[in-house]
Amino acid sequence: MRNFLSLSDAGPDGVAAMLADALDRKAARAGWPKGKPDADAPLAGHTLAMVFEKSSTRTRVSFDMAIRQLGGSSVILDSGTTQLGRGETVADTARVLSGYCDAIMLRTDDHAKLEEMAHYATIPVINGLTDDSHPCQIMADLLTILEAGKPLPGLKVAWLGDGNNVLASIVEAAGLMQFDVVAACPQGFQPDEAVIGNGSGRARVVSDPAEAVAGADVVITDTWISMGQAHADTKLKAMLPYQVDAALMAQANPGAVFLHCLPAHRGEEVTPEVIDGPQSLIWPEAENRLHAQKSVLRWCFGQIG
Ligand code: CP
Repeated sequence: MRNFLSLSDAGPDGVAAMLADALDRKAARAGWPKGKPDADAPLAGHTLAMVFEKSSTRTRVSFDMAIRQLGGSSVILDSGTTQLGRGETVADTARVLSGYCDAIMLRTDDHAKLEEMAHYATIPVINGLTDDSHPCQIMADLLTILEAGKPLPGLKVAWLGDGNNVLASIVEAAGLMQFDVVAACPQGFQPDEAVIGNGSGRARVVSDPAEAVAGADVVITDTWISMGQAHADTKLKAMLPYQVDAALMAQANPGAVFLHCLPAHRGEEVTPEVIDGPQSLIWPEAENRLHAQKSVLRWCFGQIG
């Protein structure tokens, strides 16, 4: 049984195996109706429980479609409609779900809660995002970068924004897959030293956005304010110099691509001309959540890697 709480759970060989599997399976079912299972239906009879303490569109739908295309099924639990959300313990929930289902995907604010779920569950547990990390998103990002014809070793990634959970998983991926990350973050919104340390020396933080994008093959940003949260003027003011616009993209390498995990606030972290422009790969990146999720599921069940 394998948990996928972080990219390090899979290690470089596991991540590489999942990426290769995702590329193969995506190619094999090109043009098929979305509701049709893959020809081999490798997870037939398996059920994924998805527990959401935070809202989601991509993670929710991509995991749901992934398990269905692999021949299995899913059950979705929202915190507002479960006993977990009304005070039942994580430990009890983990044990109960382990009796009904074959894997659990949890999205929660609290990474310790994810670790507790994994401790008490007797089935694989997957990190669907915590405030510390978002490994499933980075699997899709790596897949998109490979599809763009950019090998991972030696790649230079520029991050513009605050030191959030997505950056933490990009840094972790850099250490595992041997690429470099330069994160441009404003004062007061930088990642913890431990986050950068997780990149095995492949990541650094700068204050100048131009320094981050110089020589970059991939430019990545993320929403500054989570969807539905009140906009904080102080944060917006600090972040504005880190907006990805056409002038900043022009300082990256020729052929550089733009990624954003979505959802986005156009006109804040990125201008419309960049996110909807020719260098943007946001739509394949979003679709690749589906293909990456399938490989994560198969890896958890020991079918690959
Ligand atoms: N990128 C991402 O995780 O999207 P959702 O919040 O919609 O799942």
